[in-house]
Amino acid sequence: MDKERVRSFFPVLSTKVEGSPFIYFDTAATAQKPQCVIDAISNFYATEYATVHRAIYPHAEKASSMYENVRDETQRFIGAEHREEIIFTKGTTESLNLVAATFGEQQVKEGDEVLITQLEHHSNIVPWQELCKKKNAKLVIVPVNSDGVISVETFASKLSIRTKIVSICHVANSIGTINPIKAMIELAHSKGAYVVIDGAQAASHIPLDMKSLNADFYCFSAHKLYGPTGLGVLYGKKDHLDSMPIYQSGGDMVDKVTFAKTTFQKSPLKFEAGTPLIAQVMGFGAALKFIEEIELKNIATHENALYTYALKKMKAIEAIEIHGKAEDSGPIIAFTIEGMHPLDVGTLLGLKGIAIRTGHLCAQPTLASFGKESFCRISFGMYNTFDEIDVFIKSLEEILQILPTRSQI
Ligand SMILES: Cc1ncc(COP(=O)(O)O)c(C=O)c1O
Repeated sequence: MDKERVRSFFPVLSTKVEGSPFIYFDTAATAQKPQCVIDAISNFYATEYATVHRAIYPHAEKASSMYENVRDETQRFIGAEHREEIIFTKGTTESLNLVAATFGEQQVKEGDEVLITQLEHHSNIVPWQELCKKKNAKLVIVPVNSDGVISVETFASKLSIRTKIVSICHVANSIGTINPIKAMIELAHSKGAYVVIDGAQAASHIPLDMKSLNADFYCFSAHKLYGPTGLGVLYGKKDHLDSMPIYQSGGDMVDKVTFAKTTFQKSPLKFEAGTPLIAQVMGFGAALKFIEEIELKNIATHENALYTYALKKMKAIEAIEIHGKAEDSGPIIAFTIEGMHPLDVGTLLGLKGIAIRTGHLCAQPTLASFGKESFCRISFGMYNTFDEIDVFIKSLEEILQILPTRSQI
């Protein structure tokens, strides 16, 4: 991977903040966009724009075939067996809500259990919590240990014959832990449970193959994959999608409508009600091509090297406490600084041009397991450099200088 060349594709990285180069360490929240994605969206609006799936004039036919081509590319990207298994949604959040409100609604009965873990993002907690409340079912939580890890044994101990659905993250957004999901999926299936995977943090870092993973559903967002905001993917096994009730209703998802009765399209259109996210899908297509050219394995190798380098340097600073010590981790480091609120750290780094995430990271129960309400988090993408980490470490050291020492307090 030619790192300088890759970097040059991202125009925002040559901008400055108060005269300092912009250093972006918040890719876990959302990835920056390469020029090809920006161009794909603006060219589509400028010269090719039309609706999809409904009209027969040439622009509309071309837009429809471009839209459906991106579905094919997504199918290839995640190794799904059928193109009908790819549904475009608004994001991981909507994908998870869709599964909970349709498949969950259909499967979960009073007294059943839905299993999630303490590593989940709020979007993989609340839809299940709401479903359990409605169904009088039990939400069972698999705890993390003090390293931020969930062992397969702990996971197995929480499965029961009442477990109907297991919904777990592939990579934890707050502390980076990579779950052993293949083993977890096999175990859950052996107990007769269905498995939903929140892959929001994984799809940009771990090559995926739905056929071998064998999850029932897998969810991710385009904007974390260098694509546009407002678009997500729901992968679901074809048999499930065919027998699931509808989610939203309206245009495009129907077959025949009369006042007496409406019949619906088959998946995927059954789950894509209304004018879909046409321009976002075009941008996502460009992002997938871009990633394919650079190759996900090269991106992951580079991100892992950045992670190891940053972790070593941060561990050498006494006042920094790292949260989460999983051996298998995504390029995400959560930390706090003794005597300093994370929001102050984020503000001071921001003034130096360094963008980090602070706060509860949409994972309040995970932070609570560390006795915290707020973390600092850095996360890397394909465009980050070792030099940027050096600048970050130097800036942290400068910030530490302004802290009063214990004897001054
Ligand atoms: C693990 C995880 N799940 C779900 C989400 C929600 O994704 P979105 O906001 O794109 O719907 C995120 C976003 O940060 C995430 O990191």
